[in-house]
Amino acid sequence: MDRLIVTLDGPAGSGKSSVARRLARRLGLEFLDTGAMYRGVTAMALARGIEVADEPYYVVELARNCPLRFDWDTDPPRLYVRDQDVTDRLRDPDVTAGVSDVAALSGVRDVLVREQQQIGRDHPRLVTEGRDQGSVVFPDADVKFYLDANATVRAQRRAAQLREAGRIADVAEIRRQITQRDRKDSTRKTAPLICPEDAERIDTSAMTLDEVLDELENRVKASMKPPMNADTHG
Ligand code: DC
Repeated sequence: MDRLIVTLDGPAGSGKSSVARRLARRLGLEFLDTGAMYRGVTAMALARGIEVADEPYYVVELARNCPLRFDWDTDPPRLYVRDQDVTDRLRDPDVTAGVSDVAALSGVRDVLVREQQQIGRDHPRLVTEGRDQGSVVFPDADVKFYLDANATVRAQRRAAQLREAGRIADVAEIRRQITQRDRKDSTRKTAPLICPEDAERIDTSAMTLDEVLDELENRVKASMKPPMNADTHG
């Protein structure tokens, strides 16, 4: 079957993760959560007592020496470091607090970008979500989206997700963290969060999940149609 790589970039809480997973299911594609990989490296560093903000060298070494692996037989794919399943650690507050510093390290990004490109070769029918998927990792992707939403809506969505997982969530505090993380992600030197020129930008603030999904699904399907001026007269 032909390659079909769909990239979804955007800030935290723009709805990317929920959208990417469901879009992949609707289109019969696999799903890659690249934020989980930055979180996986952060979780590994914390488990080894590394201060992520102060000991970047050790974090980069760790990323180089402990390749991450997804189990593609689970949906969504669970993340492993060697034989250890780290999936349940990824959304813990200490990992969330440390991950922007890890994602700002160019040495870590080099390793993870290469791993993501390899995943793209092994799984060429893929919806992949992150901050740099359309700009850096898959510049030649077949369809690119950039999802956005205002900071208050994004904080409310994150809070709802946390509450669903049985956690306490303070919307004002989450909004503060989101704004701080956005600033770090979009001003960092390596692969800052940007909307690629050739991506469709969609503001999801006033849209339901189903509305966003319908829109994206239609756009992907439209992009797969043969060009209108194809010679149909034999
Ligand atoms: O999407 P998320 O909240 O799981 O992302 C976690 C962090 O990783 C966030 O600070 C942005 C960063 N990230 C990145 O820099 N590049 C990616 N491709 C994915 C995530």
